[in-house]
Amino acid sequence: MKILYFKLRAFVVTWLMRLLPRNPPIVFKGSNSALTLCEQVATLGFEKVILVTDNFLDSSGLLDGIKGTLEKHGVQFAVFDGVLPDPAFDQVQAGEAVIRTERCQAVIAVGGGSVLDAAKMMAMLHTNPGTLDSFDGIQKSKNPGLPLFAIPTTAGTGSEITLAAVITDPVTHRKAPIVDSKMIPGYIALDAEIMKGMPPGITAATGMDALTHAVESYLSKASTASTEEHAVTAVRLIFKYLQRAFSEGGDMEARDGMALAAFYAGAAFTKTSVGYVHGIAHQLGRVCGTPHGNANAMVLPEVIAAYGDCAHARLADLAVAAGIGQRGEGDASLAGKFIQAIIDLRKTLELPLQPKDLKAVDIPGIVDEAIKEAGDLYPVPRYMSEEELTRIVAGLRAA
Ligand SMILES: [Fe+2]
Repeated sequence: MKILYFKLRAFVVTWLMRLLPRNPPIVFKGSNSALTLCEQVATLGFEKVILVTDNFLDSSGLLDGIKGTLEKHGVQFAVFDGVLPDPAFDQVQAGEAVIRTERCQAVIAVGGGSVLDAAKMMAMLHTNPGTLDSFDGIQKSKNPGLPLFAIPTTAGTGSEITLAAVITDPVTHRKAPIVDSKMIPGYIALDAEIMKGMPPGITAATGMDALTHAVESYLSKASTASTEEHAVTAVRLIFKYLQRAFSEGGDMEARDGMALAAFYAGAAFTKTSVGYVHGIAHQLGRVCGTPHGNANAMVLPEVIAAYGDCAHARLADLAVAAGIGQRGEGDASLAGKFIQAIIDLRKTLELPLQPKDLKAVDIPGIVDEAIKEAGDLYPVPRYMSEEELTRIVAGLRAA
C-alpha cells in the first residue's frame, strides 16, 4: 500500500517538475567569465546591486576582480557576507534588509551552494514578503524575484541552475526544501579561475556531489532524453577531470571540466530529482553533521549496487560514458565495473568512509526519514525495504 502511495506521489511530482515554467539562463563559460557577467550587469542598466557571499570569500580577496569590474563600469554595490553553511532564514532576512535599505536592483551571488541558495531566497523574499513557511513547498510565491546573477565558486551543488534552495528554520533547525522555478538565476558564470583555489578536500567532496546528482538523475524514472544527455556528459567529465582537479588545483582544463560537469548534473537533476543516496546523505548531515558531498560519497556505490538488476542497463550506459568498459561486455559486468570505479575514485580522493559519531541508536531514525524523503519526492528506480536501507546505513559503522 505504501509503495503504491510512493509511486503515485512520484508520478505527480514528476509531472509537476516537468510542467513548471522555466526561463533558460544565459551562461558565460571559461576563465574570467565572472568579469564578463559583471559587464553584462552594467549593460543591462543596473546602477546598484548587492553582492551576496560569505565572510571567508570576501576577506580572501577572491571578489576583488568582480568588485573592480563593477566599479569600472559604474555599477555601485553593497556587500552582504553573512551567509553561513546550511543558511538559515534569519540570514536571508538580513540580506534582504540590505537590499531594501541600499535600494539594490539586482543580486549577484558569489560562493558555494549555501551562498547561492541564500541569495536565491533573498531575491524572492524582496518581492514576496513573508515567512519561511510561506515559501516552503513547490511554487508557493507569486511574484518573480529580483534579477539574479550566479557565480559558483565550487563545482558540485549545481545550485546555479536548479530551481531549489534549502533554507534552515533558525528556531526548529528544520531544513525547508523550497522549489520554485522563479529562483533559477537569469545569468550564470562558470569561471574556473575563481575555482582554482578550492582546497583538495572541498574539490573532492563537491565533485562527488555532482557525480551523485548525475547518477541519481540518470537512474530516475523521471529522466528524459535531455536530462539523460546532461547526466551522461557530467559523468564523462567527472571521470576525466575530478582526480586531476583534486591533485592539481591549478589545472585549468580540469577546473573548467568540473565546472561544466556540476552545471550539467544540476541541469539534469533539477528536472528529475535525485534518489536514496541523497535521502540518506541528508539524514547523515542532520544527525552527524556530515558535509553533504562527503555523505553522498559514503553511500553512492552501496546504494546503486543495492538497486540490483533493475539498474544494470542504466549503470552500464554510464560505465561506457566514463570510459570504464565497452559495449558488448554485458550490462551486469559493466554495472559492476562502474560501481567499482566509484569505490576506487572515492579512495583516490581520500574521502572519509564513515560519518563521525554515527550511533547504532540513530540508525532506525535515519532509515525512516530516508524512506519518507525518497517516497515523497524521488522517482527512484526501485523502492527499497527498511532492511535494505538499514544494511547500507549500518555498514557505515563497520566500514
Ligand atoms: Fe547534492
